[in-house]
Amino acid sequence: MPIPERLKPAFVSTRAAEPDWTEEARKRLIVALDVPDARSAEATADRLAGVCKWFKVGLELFSAAGPDVVQALASRGHSVFLDLKFHDIPNTVAGAVRSAARLGARMMTVHAAGGPAMLTAARTAIAGLHDAPELLAVTVLTSMDAAQLAAAGVQRTPAEQVSLLARMGCEAGLRGFVCSPQEVAAVRTLTGPEGVLVVPGIRPAGSDAGDQKRLATPSAALRDGASYLVVGRPITQAADPVGAADAIVAEMAAALAV
Ligand code: C5P
Repeated sequence: MPIPERLKPAFVSTRAAEPDWTEEARKRLIVALDVPDARSAEATADRLAGVCKWFKVGLELFSAAGPDVVQALASRGHSVFLDLKFHDIPNTVAGAVRSAARLGARMMTVHAAGGPAMLTAARTAIAGLHDAPELLAVTVLTSMDAAQLAAAGVQRTPAEQVSLLARMGCEAGLRGFVCSPQEVAAVRTLTGPEGVLVVPGIRPAGSDAGDQKRLATPSAALRDGASYLVVGRPITQAADPVGAADAIVAEMAAALAV
């Protein structure tokens, strides 16, 4: 899958004429730092820095450590994905996105379910900024199956709801989306090669699903068009996090090389 021109410095290996698939894989793995404090986050990121480049700051870590943790990770040379999934009225989300964009993260999230006016407000709030982070719209959480959606009042299947939200996001001018590996091929068809598709719900074969419902392996997600994979517990809760991350990178590299 071609990489959007703007994000190329994070991807392209300059070391060899032939792609170095392991290096490419390292640049497409995002480790979710769902840990309770900045010290654990920085220690985990530093430990994994030889294996991958990206780290996700989500609600648990941000609520505990605040904006400083984003700046601390970025200043240590890590690429930060700030996953706060904003969902509020357009004016409030525009302000939140504008504030968050100053922290040094390279990607950040809003909920597509906030609607087209909210997505447009979020996009335009950072449109003129130098080095603005990529704005991603979260479609349907990977922990939701059809029963969970129905209980929340959505009668469509997860696949139908993801397509509806991704189409709406494209119409609002976004090209970055978060979706499960089970819908990534369909979303890739909507966005084309310029889409930045970030995919959680990743589980190496045989690993524990936890609360996730719409899952696939790293290789399946990449083959279906994912730009980046988000992996949390299979790495951070492994007895050997570096070994677990290395194994995922190896699986990703093999899939990219095909
Ligand atoms: O531990 P695990 O690999 O399940 O972590 C997945 C991460 O991806 C979590 O931090 C979660 O918040 C995030 N995420 C998700 N589903 C989405 C969007 C983000 O699981 N749709």
